Amino acid sequence: MEPSGRLHERESPGRRDDCMSVGSPSRKIALRAWQTGWMADDVVDIDEKFELFLALWSPKLVARLNDYEVKLVRVEGEFVWHTHEDTDELFLVIDGQLTIQLRDRDVVLGPGQLFVVPRGVEHCPRADHEVKALLLEPAGTVNTGDTGGELTAVVESI
Ligand code: NI
Repeated sequence: MEPSGRLHERESPGRRDDCMSVGSPSRKIALRAWQTGWMADDVVDIDEKFELFLALWSPKLVARLNDYEVKLVRVEGEFVWHTHEDTDELFLVIDGQLTIQLRDRDVVLGPGQLFVVPRGVEHCPRADHEVKALLLEPAGTVNTGDTGGELTAVVESI
């Protein structure tokens, strides 16, 4: 049976090429998503995404909005003290209990709780048991901020 023209068009690689030649904002988003393997209209199931990786302190990209990235991360133990001079950083705990150490206090987050570390504020996340968390921050934000070192992660999308 001959597929309908619309179906055929959808399955054709040529449709994605079309995204490159059309300049509307939604088409540009589609193109960028195609380049990264993530489609703007995909449902992101957080629990399913967490099943795809076990590495600690290695954020995985699951969505983009404007110039921001949504990342999922598993953490356990203590990270490194660091600062993001140019950006705030949002932590939303999905599972477990996360302590975000600041120089003057500890912020303790449970599931469903979030905290925004203001730009320029030194912080060091710590988790006595494994935590699943969601991060929201500008694209290109380095997890170890100005400190660097071996815990600096190359972010891949999943
Ligand atoms: Ni940070």
